[in-house]
Amino acid sequence: MIKNLTCNLNNTLLEVMNIINENSMGVCFVTDNNNSLKGVVTDGDIRRAILNHKSLDSLIVDILNKNFVCGHVDDSNDALIEKINEKINENIDINIIPIVDQNNQLVDYFRYSHQSHFPVAIPNLGGNEFKYLTDAFLSTWISSSGDYIDKFEDKFSNYSDCEYGVSVANGTAALHLSLVVLGIGKGDEVIIPDLTFAGTINAVLHANATPVIVDIDEKSWCIDPKEIERSITSKTKAIIPVHLYGQVCDMDRIMILAKKYNLKVIEDCAEAHGAMFKGNKVGSFGDIGCFSFYGNKVITTGEGGMCVTNSSKLNDKLRLYRDHGMSKSKRYYHEVVGFNYRMTNLQAAIGLAQLERIDEIHKNRFSYENLYRKIMSNSNWEFQKDLKDRKRVVWLVCMLLTDNDNNERDRLISSLKDNGIEARPFFYLLSDMEVFKKYSHKVNSSAKKISSCGINLPTYESLMSLEQIESIIKRVFKKKND
Ligand SMILES: Cc1ncc(COP(=O)(O)O)c(C=O)c1O
Repeated sequence: MIKNLTCNLNNTLLEVMNIINENSMGVCFVTDNNNSLKGVVTDGDIRRAILNHKSLDSLIVDILNKNFVCGHVDDSNDALIEKINEKINENIDINIIPIVDQNNQLVDYFRYSHQSHFPVAIPNLGGNEFKYLTDAFLSTWISSSGDYIDKFEDKFSNYSDCEYGVSVANGTAALHLSLVVLGIGKGDEVIIPDLTFAGTINAVLHANATPVIVDIDEKSWCIDPKEIERSITSKTKAIIPVHLYGQVCDMDRIMILAKKYNLKVIEDCAEAHGAMFKGNKVGSFGDIGCFSFYGNKVITTGEGGMCVTNSSKLNDKLRLYRDHGMSKSKRYYHEVVGFNYRMTNLQAAIGLAQLERIDEIHKNRFSYENLYRKIMSNSNWEFQKDLKDRKRVVWLVCMLLTDNDNNERDRLISSLKDNGIEARPFFYLLSDMEVFKKYSHKVNSSAKKISSCGINLPTYESLMSLEQIESIIKRVFKKKND
């Protein structure tokens, strides 16, 4: 590869132009006959030489740029990036530098793209993901049987303080399957919070049940137990508390209500892998806990989900319905009308590798939140609260603009977007959407307030990006405050 990037002092301009044309990197490193690095030539250098009437036959040594940036084999990644950034700060747009050893021999190159777009999430697949994925691939078990499925289900349920784990195609399928196996359907009411992703309500509607949308608690942004109790009718069969944005619902009060009114509880843990209430993991309180492993989640399998439970009966039922309702003992004999909600062995391989690093992932995500807290310390932004008895996790960093006059939040989101940072407004309220509004019976003022002033910021494992984000955010927010 380095070969495409190298020429000799005796090559002509035309020859070097051809090399640069082929490598498409806009640059060529120039060495002598002993592979000792002598300089760097860019396509711009050649263009300028030709405009200055240099002939295409002249030697590259005549136009050699000797004042170039060069990395050393012992330089850390950060040191190499720093070298590139120094040039960028001088308005010299470079993204690739040669690397030499102790004897000035050209041995490698380093490429760094000065990123200008920062999405809200990028999965970090830097552990054993590729290794396990290739292993699953090479085993030819690429559908929904295979060792990785069993291992991932086993390890994830254990991690979530539950006896059983049933992997599924995605988080919405996990919720739908849970409702079905708990016998919830037509004529039944299911209480859900107004502020959540639409997957929660879609699952209820796909089960042919009736969602009842209620308000949230302003401190936790999660479903308000008082509002749950107020909405219970003779038709209520279940509650779906959503552990929103990594925060934890008040599971004590919810479980007391469930017992009092004989209701099922399906925890929606799509955004809160590993979060805890009074020392127990989310997903282990209700009848079933449902997780999503979508690409932007705390841990991911690309698409994917999991139901966790402590009931062996529910475990059997979840497995039956997940797999077309096919009998466990009699293959191709179907006992019920089921679904194909299975996860593939390839997805489970990625999930297992992600789960191995979940503690580190949590730690990193908290450090990003802390960095944002530091950047925004003098402004009107509020971050998520650490509440008594709850140990939240950071999914996407969340902030609330406390003085959201004249839709200031939306203006800031659009300024950040203009500067390459994807900041997302909080979810629209279910009760504000035409398709769902009929399932809400009152104005949910807390949910309205939180949803209108919240934003999610890029939250992923790349400290380099955070440095760049920091400078952009400071610029955007400074402008706002000037
Ligand atoms: C709260 C919540 N519930 C349910 C889901 C649905 O999960 P999935 O996208 O994997 O179907 C998501 C995420 O996307 C979510 O954030």
